[in-house]
Amino acid sequence: MNKTKIAVLVSGGGTNLQALIDAQESGKLRSGEIVFVVSNKPGAYALERAKKAGIETMTLCRSDCGGQEGFETALMTALDSHGIELIVLAGFMSILSARFTGHYEKRIINIHPSLIPSFCGKGYYGLRVHEAALAYGVKVTGATVHYVNEIPDGGQIILQEPVHIQPGDTPEILQRRVMEQAEWRILPEAAELISAEIQKKKENKA
Ligand code: GRF
Repeated sequence: MNKTKIAVLVSGGGTNLQALIDAQESGKLRSGEIVFVVSNKPGAYALERAKKAGIETMTLCRSDCGGQEGFETALMTALDSHGIELIVLAGFMSILSARFTGHYEKRIINIHPSLIPSFCGKGYYGLRVHEAALAYGVKVTGATVHYVNEIPDGGQIILQEPVHIQPGDTPEILQRRVMEQAEWRILPEAAELISAEIQKKKENKA
């Protein structure tokens, strides 16, 4: 059975990418295979994680492509030439246009470190999400995996996992707990779920 070809887009440390790689190695991610990792930030540690796992990498910067349109065109060309069927955004810090998301409808998923629709959308990224959750005083936060469309963090929800706020939480402590208890578990789970769906669709067509 042909596995779903997955590309992971990253910008930073890549702990979510690592969770995907670990899931692949342990067999939890079995319907898809990570074949390509693309970073829009040169030197991102995520690239090292990919190389260690023997996965092909590429760095593509907006500034080298003459802006967003050129960046997305180059990205689409690279993804399509690798036969990518599922794109996983794992800490990818760039908003993608409707032209891009429309080209891969229901083929892009993202992990967001809150329970959408709380603390999401434009401006809610990294520590800011956890700062906002603590400032609001919510007792439960968590993580969400969702499809990516033209609305930032606005696509259909695939999986969510709640995480309780603890006394003494700082944005940094909360960020870590949300990763450990939610993100690193539900992102590989969602990648498997969607990879299996894509695989099934291919089989039905064949
Ligand atoms: C994670 O918190 C993820 O939810 C958000 O960006 C962060 C990426 O961390 N989208 P890492 O690069 O996977 O370690």
